[in-house]
Amino acid sequence: MDSTEPPHYRISRIARELESKGIDIIHMEIGDPELDVDRRIIDAMYRAALEGYTHYGYSKGIPGLRRSIANYLNDKLGLDLDEDNICLTPGGKVAIYLALRLLNKRRIGILEPIWGLYYSFSKVLNLDIINVRTEFEDGWLPKDDALKRFEDVDLISIVNPSNPTGTILSIDTQDKIVEIAMDNDIYILADEIYFDLIYRDIKFKSFLEYGYENTLSIFSFSKNYAMTGFRVGFVVSTNKELIDRFSKYMRLVIGGVPPFIQFAALEALKNRDIVDNNRRFYREQTRYLSGELKKLGFDMVEPSAGIYIFPKVPNGIDGVKFTEKLLTIGRVAVSPGTGFGDYPEFIRFTTALKRDKLATAIERIRYTLENMD
Ligand SMILES: Cc1ncc(COP(=O)(O)O)c(C=O)c1O
Repeated sequence: MDSTEPPHYRISRIARELESKGIDIIHMEIGDPELDVDRRIIDAMYRAALEGYTHYGYSKGIPGLRRSIANYLNDKLGLDLDEDNICLTPGGKVAIYLALRLLNKRRIGILEPIWGLYYSFSKVLNLDIINVRTEFEDGWLPKDDALKRFEDVDLISIVNPSNPTGTILSIDTQDKIVEIAMDNDIYILADEIYFDLIYRDIKFKSFLEYGYENTLSIFSFSKNYAMTGFRVGFVVSTNKELIDRFSKYMRLVIGGVPPFIQFAALEALKNRDIVDNNRRFYREQTRYLSGELKKLGFDMVEPSAGIYIFPKVPNGIDGVKFTEKLLTIGRVAVSPGTGFGDYPEFIRFTTALKRDKLATAIERIRYTLENMD
């Protein structure tokens, strides 16, 4: 097995092999919402392509879109950004990879559990990981003294709100992380792609709000606008020089985001009802799934945001074993907890599927629990 392949990609690959043999699989291992892209977004993309926006574009992104993003973040987070604080990227994933590559730091601090791609990127780039574990029993929130391990790193990567747990850091914890970073000249890479999908009354504070110049935040249109296939995201920093360096590096290796896709993103931002509707959908599906899973004996911290649940498998069953049985007996693909750190008792479900599919998945999960040895 390729050691840089995250476990949920492996499950996905096996699931697709089963599908090619005619076996129907419910995909809950990847965060790809089962929602259609809003028609207005597709129309805007099509219009832009017809109007000739089909060439190389600005490496930072078209100014109108960057201005619109700045206004959006200023509005939602009380920031004071303009277009030069922003660089468009072909999705959040590549933004993280490019940022890690550009900053070229060796010791990366992560808060676990964390989205598995951080392990893969660290392996590809030969980085040393210094982890701070959080525990289910603590509501997936870090203990203060554990954060001291970050004093010794060059860069801290935080996913907030979290994938896989859907929890949101307390402001006090964030203050401590930023204090450690400032005192020790450490970079912060804040993955905030789920900030728009908070469905509880909890205060979210972006790492950008501290104004610390060594901070880059990552955002994406993938989940909030259900635009996973468009591949469009962006990085933001209050430090314009850092954004300039990032965009030069992006231009070197990628060029820029296709201009007609940028017009689609611009249209998305003009219609905030889209993200409001999607958030409502995710909240309802997440609540439904967590309620049904609890009835089957799964134990979990209720997510406050995002499109995932990270429960403990019932009856002490090992998460990796359950993932495999669920795929072969139940025909449901999920991610083992080992993909997000050393969490063998847990698995991650994507909740962003339509209700009838979730109901079928629950039946299959029940059947698997009753029929596994
Ligand atoms: C925490 C986190 N960051 C970044 C991404 C990347 O998303 P995309 O590359 O689709 O923008 C994802 C996708 O699942 C994610 O969960």
